[in-house]
Amino acid sequence: MKREINGHKLIYFDNAATTQKPRQVIAAEQTFYESHNGNIHRAVHTLSQEATEMYEDAREKIAHFINAQDSSEIIFVRGATEAINLVAYSWGLHNLKQDDEMLLSLMEHHSNIVPWEIVSKISRFKIKYVQVNSDGTLDYADLEKKINSGTKLVSLSHVSNVSGVINDVNYVAKLAHDNGALILVDGAQSVPHMPTDVQKLDVDFLVFSGHKMLGPTGIGVLYAKRHLLERMEPFQGGGEMIKDVSFSQKNGHCAISWNAPPWKFEAGTPNVAGGIALGEAVRYLQNIGMTEVLEHELALTAYAFKRLHELKKLTIYGPKDVKVKCGIIPFSLDGLSSHDVALFCDNFGIMLRSGFHCAQPLHQIFNLQSSARASFYLYNTLEEIDRFVEVLKELEQFWR
Ligand SMILES: Cc1ncc(COP(=O)(O)O)c(C=O)c1O
Repeated sequence: MKREINGHKLIYFDNAATTQKPRQVIAAEQTFYESHNGNIHRAVHTLSQEATEMYEDAREKIAHFINAQDSSEIIFVRGATEAINLVAYSWGLHNLKQDDEMLLSLMEHHSNIVPWEIVSKISRFKIKYVQVNSDGTLDYADLEKKINSGTKLVSLSHVSNVSGVINDVNYVAKLAHDNGALILVDGAQSVPHMPTDVQKLDVDFLVFSGHKMLGPTGIGVLYAKRHLLERMEPFQGGGEMIKDVSFSQKNGHCAISWNAPPWKFEAGTPNVAGGIALGEAVRYLQNIGMTEVLEHELALTAYAFKRLHELKKLTIYGPKDVKVKCGIIPFSLDGLSSHDVALFCDNFGIMLRSGFHCAQPLHQIFNLQSSARASFYLYNTLEEIDRFVEVLKELEQFWR
């Protein structure tokens, strides 16, 4: 985005909240509406056929991006939040019974806590929370202690949206499976930033949001293994998710059979343009290479760590070892609220997040009400970090 704010070149460090969009992604949406707009899977006319083909092609691209076995394992949803709700209602409500257990961690985003708490009130299963160490890393010993044969699901973020800690999903997936449980991985902060291979990770469910990976808002993905999708109940009812609806005069009801996955979970007219634009975002990322994206962000994070230590009054939360985390840095400046820090930076064109980032339990562990957060993406530079440190130094001076 080419913008100046208060005469300063924009520096966008709020990528964990949402990312900026490349021209190609914006053009994909525009071209769709200008030349191909029709409803999908419904009509025989040219526009409908083209729209359907473009939408299903985006699904293929996304399947390939995360190495799903088949594109029918890719469900388009509004975002990570809706994907977790889908699993909670379509799988959790019907498969987690009274006295069954599921594990969450205390570093989860609220969207991986609240749906489970709601559904557990209905189905009466137990939720156990795995502890997080004071440096923000997962307490694996506590996980091993809490998992048992009564555990039916482990639901865990791959990367924390507060600390940037990368969890060992491979290990947790194996542990879950060895105990007869499934694993859901919240990939909202990992899929945009590193290579993802659902078959290698052996995860049962993976969720992520398009807007955090150069795509538009209002589109995201639930990946689930095909055999699970086949046995899951639908999430919402409506057009397109059914195979057949027939009215019986005898009992006055409609008998309904479901469409096959993925359409069984996509009731009503979906976000067609969003899906197509997300496919373009994936193409853009693949052209750069996800290993390159990750390496760039790790280099930015290591550099930012080094430079931020020049500030006397600044505290960084989370692990000291930059190797166990990716490009998210939560911090505070002595005596200043996170909103004051973010507002001061905003005056100089630097966009930071402040608050508790929808992760209050983790802030409790850090003994904080809130934190300021800088989060990087592929378009950020070392020069931007230098400017950021300069502005924070000015704030330190000013506050003194
Ligand atoms: C780790 C994590 N999970 C889930 C979400 C929810 O994503 P969305 O609001 O796009 O549904 C976020 C958003 O910040 C996140 O960081």
